[in-house]
Amino acid sequence: MISPVILAGGTGSRLWPLSRELYPKQFLTVTGEQSMLQQTVARLSGMEHAAPVLICNEDHRFIAAEQMRLGGYDHSGIILEPVGRNTAPAIALAALRAVNNAVDGEEPVLLILAADHIIENEEAFKTSVAKALLLAENGQLVTFGIVPTAPETGYGYIKRGTNCEGLDTNGSHDAFSVSEFVEKPDLATAEEYLASGNYYWNSGMFLFKASRYLEELAKFSPIILDVCKRAIAAPSQDLDFIRVDKAIFATCPNDSIDYSVMEPLCAQGSNSVMVVPMDAGWSDVGSFSALWEVSAKDDNQNAIKGDVMVVDSTNNYIYAEHKLVSTVGVDNLVIIETKDAILVASKDKVQDVKTIVNQLKEAG
Ligand code: GDD
Ligand code: MG
Repeated sequence: MISPVILAGGTGSRLWPLSRELYPKQFLTVTGEQSMLQQTVARLSGMEHAAPVLICNEDHRFIAAEQMRLGGYDHSGIILEPVGRNTAPAIALAALRAVNNAVDGEEPVLLILAADHIIENEEAFKTSVAKALLLAENGQLVTFGIVPTAPETGYGYIKRGTNCEGLDTNGSHDAFSVSEFVEKPDLATAEEYLASGNYYWNSGMFLFKASRYLEELAKFSPIILDVCKRAIAAPSQDLDFIRVDKAIFATCPNDSIDYSVMEPLCAQGSNSVMVVPMDAGWSDVGSFSALWEVSAKDDNQNAIKGDVMVVDSTNNYIYAEHKLVSTVGVDNLVIIETKDAILVASKDKVQDVKTIVNQLKEAG
């Protein structure tokens, strides 16, 4: 049985000032009618799975609980982190809990999902997950590969190895060994990978047995495993939330699954990592340019939300929360108007929006 684990502890700083520390992007409705978290939960329907486990920062417990409730789940499956220590520890906490709660020795297979992805084709998503299940049950750590369309430096890159023949009875062999995993390469390297045609983007979703992840974490980041074991050993119950020990978890190194497990495991030439391609209209929506890509646009390629007037303007992403925002003769801009902050940025430079957030943090 698949046990979904939804990672929702990121801050979404590249979407500031839409995404805020107290209300990060996974809880916002940026496309469609539901928040990104709600869409993540809704996407599971029709798939056989256990109740999802959500891991997020304790500051967001009530927003998270409310949105899970709207999706039909109570908050007994919400693990709260006192501080963010990135995805390797977050997944470790969920994996340890899954192993501890396993009934009759049944090994839970964790479907690791980010709470802030857009997936347009849910059927294609489910087909890829179904293909990956057999591999994960056999002890493989499965990644989902997206065909890259640009030399994005904010993603992990997965080099496709050999085809995994005879995977399923439908004659589909859509799974490959992984000969290299490179997290967030520099631009020149990303361009090389894109041109080669041999790489996928890492979607940031994974499927594996909880015990297999913990085994690999023990090899590559034993400190993370040790801290997480101690931090979740005696979780305190607050209402029905699961809280990990604050003082212990604070000592955990900050690292992602990509850097701490996937990259070194693949570098060792391990044959336990596989990639299943996913052609599902996936988008990370990490930045305003990604948000512009997936948004509905007018004839001049402007994506507009709120009270906005455009004259002779093209290719812009414009969001007005409280005031009328109007533009004349501008191209390729991001303009975000909120109650207390306005952002104007070139759409080509939106990865740097987080620099503003960092400067604001430093200024206190
Ligand atoms: N609970 C918890 N705690 N969740 C976290 C934490 C944390 O400390 N940090 C991040 N997350 C959540 C985020 O909310 C997001 O849903 C997911 O984990 C991934 O984190 P990001 O910070 O968004 O990672 P990334 O986008 O830089 O990179 C990852 O995703 C890319 C695709 O979107 C990597 O897996 C890349 O390899 C991948 O290409
Ligand atoms: Mg991300």
